[in-house]
Amino acid sequence: AMHKHPKELKLASDGPLGKFDERQLQRGFLVYKEVCATCHSLSLVSFRNLKDLGYTDAEVKKIAKDWGTKQPVFDEKGGTWGERDNLPSDRFPKVYYPGTGTPPDLSLITKARHDGAAYVHSLLTGYNEKPSAEALKHFPEFAKTPDGMHFNPYFANLNIAMPPPLTQDGQVQYSDGTRATVDQMSTDVAAFLVWTAEPTLQTRRMAGWAVLGFLIVLGFLTYGAYRSVWAGVK
Ligand code: HEM
Repeated sequence: AMHKHPKELKLASDGPLGKFDERQLQRGFLVYKEVCATCHSLSLVSFRNLKDLGYTDAEVKKIAKDWGTKQPVFDEKGGTWGERDNLPSDRFPKVYYPGTGTPPDLSLITKARHDGAAYVHSLLTGYNEKPSAEALKHFPEFAKTPDGMHFNPYFANLNIAMPPPLTQDGQVQYSDGTRATVDQMSTDVAAFLVWTAEPTLQTRRMAGWAVLGFLIVLGFLTYGAYRSVWAGVK
């Protein structure tokens, strides 16, 4: 492949004992809401799922109600389409993007792309990188990026239709004291998109450990039973 492998990214949710960092997920959600949601849908997630991130029922209700894109509703009597505010039970409404290219739904993007979270982070922070001399030797056409496209060495086609979405520090206002650098916002939104792709990751791992523990105990019991059954036999 011509494109670069993503830079390493460490998240709290990595590994068999990894856990989501709720505050990071909330920051990542804020980045999605303030920046990515203009172009990208998140259609597999419901507002009420945000309770996983530590938001209360009242907060979820407010987030849903204040959401910029509303829910489309069909008026049977008038035969026309209208809209209403979002409810906690609604999925995030679909976004229609008028620009060049098709922004994919982000719900499962960290599963759909190899090394998903690291990829999202690298893609978002990779716009300043220039094609390497080595790449230009083999693909001189990359010296020129087509109009409306942006060079990004982490994207499979190297030229991407998405304009750099995170360009300046402080682009979103974090309320937990974390400095909103471009790198931090990219990391946080990547962490958030790991959660959207597998909200039950932690439960799955905990169930795995419980099963393993049960099997170990069962193993000892079985061995003890075996010993006692055969104890008197020569
Ligand atoms: C593509 C993430 C903001 C427009 C993508 C891809 C990801 C992504 C992961 C898929 C790349 C691939 O196919 O491998 C994000 C994130 C954002 C964000 C996390 C917020 C921080 C935006 C914004 C716009 C936009 C604000 C519109 C102005 C697009 C378009 C594509 C795309 C058009 C398709 C690119 C192509 O196939 O050439 N984005 N995006 N994105 N995004 Fe974004």
